[in-house]
Amino acid sequence: MKHFLDINTTDVADLRGMIESAKTIKNARNGRPKGALDDDLPLKDHMVALIFEKPSTRTRVSFDVGVRQMGGRTMVLSGSEMQLGHGETVADTAKVLSRYVDLIMIRTFEEATLLEMAENATVPVINGLTNRTHPCQIMADILTFEEKRGPIAGKKVVWSGDGNNVFASFAHAAGQFGFDLTFTGPQTLDPEALFIEEARAKGVKVEIERDPIKAVQGADLVVTDTWVSMHDAASMRERRHNQLRPYQVNEDLMKEAADDALFMHCLPAHRNEEATDAVMDGPASVIFDEAENRLHAQKAVMKWCLT
Ligand code: CP
Ligand code: NVA
Repeated sequence: MKHFLDINTTDVADLRGMIESAKTIKNARNGRPKGALDDDLPLKDHMVALIFEKPSTRTRVSFDVGVRQMGGRTMVLSGSEMQLGHGETVADTAKVLSRYVDLIMIRTFEEATLLEMAENATVPVINGLTNRTHPCQIMADILTFEEKRGPIAGKKVVWSGDGNNVFASFAHAAGQFGFDLTFTGPQTLDPEALFIEEARAKGVKVEIERDPIKAVQGADLVVTDTWVSMHDAASMRERRHNQLRPYQVNEDLMKEAADDALFMHCLPAHRNEEATDAVMDGPASVIFDEAENRLHAQKAVMKWCLT
């Protein structure tokens, strides 16, 4: 069974294969209408369940469109409308869904839910974001970086802000794709030490630098994300804002990065909070290419799961 649960638990050669496959899949679209089928239809006659226990725009639409372009069909399920949201176990849900569908994508809260789904499903399971990681996003980000700047191996990526689930998947990717990663943010919002240790054990440089100006020196890519994630209590908002304001990505900060540095944000953004409009809409920004590339990268992930 080929589940896509996280970047650190997926074989390096398979990850590289998926990025190359995503490039091919994207090129083969050749500007055809978005509703048109691909030439290659690895999901023909396949049924895919897309489960959302949290809101989503990009993940929901890109998976749905991607499945259809590859010849499959989808059903989008909201966790709260399923028995899963009313006491049925994850294990029973996984076993039942496996009798109906060929692939399950789930966006959920606890990582344990994702893992229990994968343990009990007899079809591949894809992680569409948990409180802890967001691997599909970072596959799209690597595709985006490489399209613009060539191989990401050996480059310097700087994350400014909250050490959250999206950062965690960047840390996984640093180890697997071989790039250096610097986290800059307040100590109280540091990422889990395990993410950093694991990447370092794979031989890449991963640093924590409290001073954002020092952190971004020579960065090839600057990344940020919302200061308050979907799983964070809304009551944290004011405190988070006070802590994270010095880590806002603005034009002054971008000036410290390499001349050809790119800027990424997985979106949705709180504009002029974690990053200013001048950066979000500026020349270094590739935020909408990133969003588009969710589609192409996930098509490669689904193809890998099923073939
Ligand atoms: N970046 C991302 O996963 O966006 P959605 O929450 O809209 O799916
Ligand atoms: N860190 C954000 C990412 C959203 C795509 C969240 O988990 O809410």
